[in-house]
Amino acid sequence: MTTPVVDQPLEDSHGRRINDLRVSVTDRCNFRCQYCMPAEGLAWMERDEVLTFEEITRLVSLMVSMGIEDVRLTGGEPLVRRDFPDLVAMLKATGVRDLSMTTNGYLLARHAEALVRGGLDRINVSIDSLQRDRFFELTRRDSLEQVLEGLNAIGAYPEIGPVKVNAVAIRGFTEDEVGRFCEFARSTDNQVRFIEFMPLDGDRNWDPSKVLTGNELRELIEASYPLIEKEREPSATARVFAFADGKGEIGFINPVSEPFCADCNRIRLTADGKLRTCLFSLNETDLLTPLRDGADNAEIERMIRVAVAGKELRHHINDIEFVQPERTMSAIGG
Ligand code: 5AD
Ligand code: SF4
Repeated sequence: MTTPVVDQPLEDSHGRRINDLRVSVTDRCNFRCQYCMPAEGLAWMERDEVLTFEEITRLVSLMVSMGIEDVRLTGGEPLVRRDFPDLVAMLKATGVRDLSMTTNGYLLARHAEALVRGGLDRINVSIDSLQRDRFFELTRRDSLEQVLEGLNAIGAYPEIGPVKVNAVAIRGFTEDEVGRFCEFARSTDNQVRFIEFMPLDGDRNWDPSKVLTGNELRELIEASYPLIEKEREPSATARVFAFADGKGEIGFINPVSEPFCADCNRIRLTADGKLRTCLFSLNETDLLTPLRDGADNAEIERMIRVAVAGKELRHHINDIEFVQPERTMSAIGG
């Protein structure tokens, strides 16, 4: 494997180094989480609009040579894409430093071994409730048991770093989950991270009053469990705390109440080959068309650099002029 030669670091016009790429491999999903997709009626991307594994690998390989170090695979649900573990192996071979994925866990037990064999480094599993009926209510699928089985299956592989569990925090829902998640984080190797609800839902039901902030959650937790904040890693999305008695960790991802745009190092590639420089971008750069029209790497590299240069300074969730992007989270990739 050759070490990529980085001529010019990939940097935006605000001086932020871009070294993290999120790749959505499908907009399809076997769940219908309320904060992400509508119950029904969302049109799928046409299959021939979706990047092939070879096309994804070519783009990732090029971006690795431009300075991308970490690649996270997302969806929709990445494991509903056929032969997904093959893609993991193809991407690992590009020389990417850290290859990870975010999954809802439903198909994880059956694919865990192939993912590890493919070279996956880390994994996040989304679980919003540890109670069966409430899990069903939020995801619209009665699947908590299968997800926990998936979590156990992947947790058995020491090659994979500590598994992170993501829970979207919604006012009126998550307050009643906090105690269970704390006990879960304290009794397993999993770090639980609460993510503030962002306006990327298919139902367009988001409003500021539904955001249960990380600070509110932390206060709730600290009423029972004292916490000690750990040092923030550069460009980290989560504020991580250790339980003061040394048993486990808990994190808060606070994009709404404490935006972390200032040192954002991330760009996103959608399943249909559009490059997005922010979750909330209102425009995107089509890489699929030039790729299929025979553009060479130099041309595509130029398009990527132009897009990155135009990366948004920050999101505008908290401004009155905020405009929700047309794509739902499932068509962007978390
Ligand atoms: N707000 C916050 N997080 C979200 N996710 C999906 N939709 C939203 C939203 N509207 C999370 C998922 C998953 C990750 C990819 O993004 O729960 O953990
Ligand atoms: Fe599917 Fe993940 Fe969206 Fe839930 S959050 S509907 S699991 S893509």
